[in-house]
Amino acid sequence: MTIILKSSRMLSTILFRCNYSTAPKSVSTMLINNKEFETDEYTNITPKIISYLNQNLHLRKDNPISLVRKSIVNYFYKSFTSRGNPSFSVYENLSPIVTTKQNFDDLLIPKDHISRSKSDCYYINKDVLLRAHMTAHQGDLLRAGLDNFLMIGDVYRRDEIDATHFPVFHQVDAVRTQRKKDLFGENSELEIFEPTFDPIHPQRYTNSIADPMKQSCHTLEATKLMETQLKQHLIGLVQTLFGDDIQHRWVEAYFPFTHPSWELEIFYEDNWLEVLGCGITRNEILANAGPNNSIAYAFGLGLERLAMALYKIPDIRLMWSSDSGFISQFQNKTNYDTITYKPVSVYPQCVNDISFWLPPNLTIDSFTSNDFYDLVRDIGGDIIEQVKLKDKFVHPKSKKHSLCYTIIYRHLERTLTQREVNEFVRLL
Ligand code: DAH
Repeated sequence: MTIILKSSRMLSTILFRCNYSTAPKSVSTMLINNKEFETDEYTNITPKIISYLNQNLHLRKDNPISLVRKSIVNYFYKSFTSRGNPSFSVYENLSPIVTTKQNFDDLLIPKDHISRSKSDCYYINKDVLLRAHMTAHQGDLLRAGLDNFLMIGDVYRRDEIDATHFPVFHQVDAVRTQRKKDLFGENSELEIFEPTFDPIHPQRYTNSIADPMKQSCHTLEATKLMETQLKQHLIGLVQTLFGDDIQHRWVEAYFPFTHPSWELEIFYEDNWLEVLGCGITRNEILANAGPNNSIAYAFGLGLERLAMALYKIPDIRLMWSSDSGFISQFQNKTNYDTITYKPVSVYPQCVNDISFWLPPNLTIDSFTSNDFYDLVRDIGGDIIEQVKLKDKFVHPKSKKHSLCYTIIYRHLERTLTQREVNEFVRLL
């Protein structure tokens, strides 16, 4: 990835000097992901923020965010399957650089809505920004003809940085549309739309959200059935993640792109924790993007919050850690493993390799590494953070077998000295 800030101000000064009357406007540009963007008075994206683009924590196999993502995708693969085929698609590589049309206009977010403000978003220029939510792709994917999909990726919001806030986080967003026959079955008398609404000419009708139960164009039956399905799927999801006994409650909410709307909260470790927003998609969005014979529900959830709760990770910044003490706790794990994060000490690691010859009755392949790991942990206790096989070696002449392991030590309360570590190795 290249980040180049170029300014043609100098050039314009030179031209300006040559010819007073035709001074060109000063144009600055910015190269992000090999694409050049003009900057303007809206530009507030910083090189630090640009450095988070393309990091794709949600796709890194040893990152907790990716483990939660897998659990969620698996759950939906299981619950939305028709005749053995998943009836939805997953988009995990959509570019985070979007237009204000995608992020706001397509989703009916009013022009003066606070979420558009420069103090909340990272703008590249007045028309282009880093997506503030994954819902930004909803309109395009509907326009492309998709009816059932998940969008997963990194989103960017200007925020303070502390244990629970970071300007980059990850979301899963989803849309599920249903036609009359999907919802009520073939030959049903029930309808999605009220008789006063003509789905072929939606522009002739002003869809109202004054009724808290439903949008004026939808029938109560269609809305209620969609609401029940939506809520069942989402309760199933939190039960899959947090166990069947998890307590939950629905809270009425407002989003410009859904009506009615709700937030789901779960009671987790003595607190009500908001985990997602959802609702019945505003019919204007569907009508503008294509499907005029369907009703849809949508939801969006944040992956960091779920991963922090599930694995007891105390600080959101740890998700970006490259400290092997953190990463190794999620390495080679599947989303079915129960993982409880063990705090990594703030004191530095001390790394040592140890190699040894095996007795003649053992070979590099018959030696059980797990026995060695246990031995090291037995002797070293808590100061052993990780043990990894580094190398196997057979001497070409003597045919003796040898193994080399890397041992990473770290004390929870103080900096270890090399001398202490050497003393430990002597005991092994
Ligand atoms: N985009 C919302 C946010 O970032 C979350 C959300 C709410 C997404 C409702 C949806 C939805 O798709 O229907 O806070």
